[in-house]
Amino acid sequence: MLLDVDEVVARCRTARDEHTPQLAIRDVLAELVADADAVAAALGPVHEGGIQALYRSPDLTVLRIVWTPGMKLQPHNHAMFAVVGMYGGQEDNAFFRRAERGLESAGGRDLVAGDVHVMGHDAIHAVSNTRSEYAVALHVYGGDFFDAERSEWDPATFEERPRDLANTARQFTEANAAWAARPR
Ligand SMILES: [Fe+2]
Repeated sequence: MLLDVDEVVARCRTARDEHTPQLAIRDVLAELVADADAVAAALGPVHEGGIQALYRSPDLTVLRIVWTPGMKLQPHNHAMFAVVGMYGGQEDNAFFRRAERGLESAGGRDLVAGDVHVMGHDAIHAVSNTRSEYAVALHVYGGDFFDAERSEWDPATFEERPRDLANTARQFTEANAAWAARPR
């Protein structure tokens, strides 16, 4: 079967109804990104960094997230499980846990094409693209990504504040402009 966006979403929706949706979605993404070229063809070309919603419901969100080279996203949580399936580039993850004041480091993981990473509902991570190519991945969440009470933390002071998606959109805009204006 030719892979397309509808098929990607359909597989995720079926997995969401499984007894252990987090693991079922992990398996779906692992199978998909094992053929990164097929995923890239299904989702179409990348012109700039950003968040593209492929499916949104109260219990499932499927996004394509493209991290622009140089992009750094401050620590944040999701308040729902999240599964990332990389199909191009590299996404550097730093993990944190809540500390008495702010956050403390809890390791990291650099994801490359073919990698799948599962995060529990209370995971806190920061993401950066330190490479000179777009980092592209499917991000699947066990709720409505755009309508959840979540937090982000100031990257310098680790002060907690409500998640601000409008600010994230501005960060993408700035990173895209800087990348477009890079010396070549
Ligand atoms: Fe995240």
